[in-house]
Amino acid sequence: MIRQRQLGDLTALATLTEEVHAADGYPHAIPPDLTAFFFPEDLLAAAVIDDAGTIIGHAALKVTMGGSGAMDLVGRATGRSLDELAVLTRVMTHPSARGRGLVRDLTEWAIAAAAALRRRTWLLVDAESTSAIACYAACHFSSVGSVEVTFGDGAVVPHLVMVRPELGHTTT
Ligand SMILES: CC(C)(COP(=O)(O)OP(=O)(O)OC[C@H]1O[C@@H](n2cnc3c(N)ncnc32)[C@H](O)[C@@H]1OP(=O)(O)O)[C@@H](O)C(=O)NCCC(=O)NCCS
Repeated sequence: MIRQRQLGDLTALATLTEEVHAADGYPHAIPPDLTAFFFPEDLLAAAVIDDAGTIIGHAALKVTMGGSGAMDLVGRATGRSLDELAVLTRVMTHPSARGRGLVRDLTEWAIAAAAALRRRTWLLVDAESTSAIACYAACHFSSVGSVEVTFGDGAVVPHLVMVRPELGHTTT
């Protein structure tokens, strides 16, 4: 069941983050402040997949991501300003629950939640994360370019910027 995330989910999300990081190297590092990671100041909405009390998936929408390079790229590609955009982030599904359509459900939730706020959805994905890129392409996101993201540990990692068409403009 997909449902709105609650503050009480934080402990379960910490476990999910550790397990996804260990399996996939996402996020890049375990955030030292998980509350700030899951509840950033520019948060728009967040959802979890709750499997009979166990959190097996998560996604959030926020306003800013990746610095001005990424946001300028999205602005040029979509013709939209920051207050008309929402970035899909913190997308994780438990390694034991892959291939069940959970990210598809989470992206559909995100697109509807963003559209309800009159925002269009975009995302950043590690350019070497072929499985995540394939998944997002299957969910109708298209690359509009790439940027380098600098993490807190100084690592500079190329990322693709992907944009979802307007609601109703997909072919399937
Ligand atoms: C990559 C990841 C997001 C996919 O999650 P998932 O729950 O297995 O994805 P779903 O089952 O919802 O798949 C949705 C679509 O993507 C496709 N897909 C998923 N993984 C894929 C892969 N490795 N290769 C090709 N296509 C893939 C599925 O076939 C499906 O398309 P379909 O419905 O047309 O068949 C997941 O493996 C993950 O959480 N990885 C670690 C965290 C991460 O990288 N997050 C992204 C941060 S930007």
